[in-house]
Amino acid sequence: MGMLSALYAGPNEVTVYDPAVFAAVDGPGNKCTKPSWYDMLQPTVALNTTRDRVEHDDRRKAWNRALNPEALRSYRSRIDRYTDLLDDYIASHVGEPISANDIFYWFTFDIMGDLAYGKSFGMLSEHKWHYAIAWMNEFMGLLGPISPVPWLARFLFHVPGVTPKWHRFMDWCQDRMKDRLTMEPNEPDVSTWLIDHVRSDGIVGKPQFDTLHGDAVTMTIAGSDTSAQTLLFIFYHLAKDSTRQNQLRQEIIHSNAQSSDASVLGDCPYLDGFINETLRVHPPVATGAIRQAGPGGIDVAGINIPEGTIIVAPRYCIARREDCFEKADQFIPERWTSAPHMAKRKEAFAPFALGRYSCVGKGLAFLQMRCLVTQLVTKYSVHFVDNTDPDACWRDLKDNFTGLPGKLDLIFKPIKV
Ligand code: HEM
Repeated sequence: MGMLSALYAGPNEVTVYDPAVFAAVDGPGNKCTKPSWYDMLQPTVALNTTRDRVEHDDRRKAWNRALNPEALRSYRSRIDRYTDLLDDYIASHVGEPISANDIFYWFTFDIMGDLAYGKSFGMLSEHKWHYAIAWMNEFMGLLGPISPVPWLARFLFHVPGVTPKWHRFMDWCQDRMKDRLTMEPNEPDVSTWLIDHVRSDGIVGKPQFDTLHGDAVTMTIAGSDTSAQTLLFIFYHLAKDSTRQNQLRQEIIHSNAQSSDASVLGDCPYLDGFINETLRVHPPVATGAIRQAGPGGIDVAGINIPEGTIIVAPRYCIARREDCFEKADQFIPERWTSAPHMAKRKEAFAPFALGRYSCVGKGLAFLQMRCLVTQLVTKYSVHFVDNTDPDACWRDLKDNFTGLPGKLDLIFKPIKV
């Protein structure tokens, strides 16, 4: 492979470690497509599994409207409601071990349930996992090991009785979307825009409903697992380093970040640096988002990868290259603020992917994370639990397309500010 940092991973597949790969596969002018891995959910097709570019671009317009800054402002009161519910839960368990593997997932899934179906999963109010999400988690556990063999995944998903919980989860999402179609929420939610989009083509017939169903599944999975993992690691690093925890607290207290105006949440550079560094060291989509080289192939670092080749660009490994980030294995949020020389090649950092297939929910993810971190860090100090092994959360992490961290318990103690 010349000077390109890459591995042949199969007869028609290459894993590329060069930081230029993200722009090559997803940047301006690229002709890459999504490979057959994305057919896994068929016959249901969601935005992220739409392989036809024209069809994808059309659906993406509705998603862009649903998640643009103005729409995000209208979702703020819902996010505040779940932030308060999580805060209440912590307030009633101060000084006791709390499972980070529960609370941050309850928070993000409840928000996405509300935004997708007009109704949360009720996990933060009932303090337990919703059965449909438990079914989904079982499926995600399968997706990791079988992802490298997409035909096997499709086979397993379509043989009756092999993945019953996945089918129950799909049916459950379908029923909730049917319910959502019969009611109009007081405030628009994400589905308002997606439903309007398919209604503008006429009534909601079977093909239009299938797209809404697919998108509801995507919202539930892509919108929740990713932000929850990031929140878990943010709080892991806060507990690990009380000096940085205090620095973040001071920034938030002396900023206007606790204002109810969503637009001012951007005024905390250290908080954003903390989130970015968490996404660099623990990217929620660590190896997924594979692409296939289009006509003429693609050029990465002067080497042509021929048309039709499947390209894997593992963002976990690329963002830990020492030639891209100084002390790359260390968590140093200052590289995004006061020490920019420590981020030598920022193109190695692409946690949300780039271009037309990039994450449409990035703004929502940042909004949820900023709201929650801001509220909790100013009310509580966060600590590890004595005689536990907090590093298990990253050491036991499983890559199931989205990451599934190992166990982490935390203790929150009220602080006077
Ligand atoms: C920290 C949080 C998040 C991270 C790191 C993240 C990362 C990503 C990545 C890497 C992709 C590309 C996947 C691929 O090409 O297969 C993606 C796509 C997507 N994400 Fe996110 N995501 C996050 C949060 C969210 C949220 C909150 C939503 C809300 C709905 C969301 C919705 C989507 C959708 C719909 C796509 C498909 C976009 C398209 O194909 O046009 N994500 N995300």
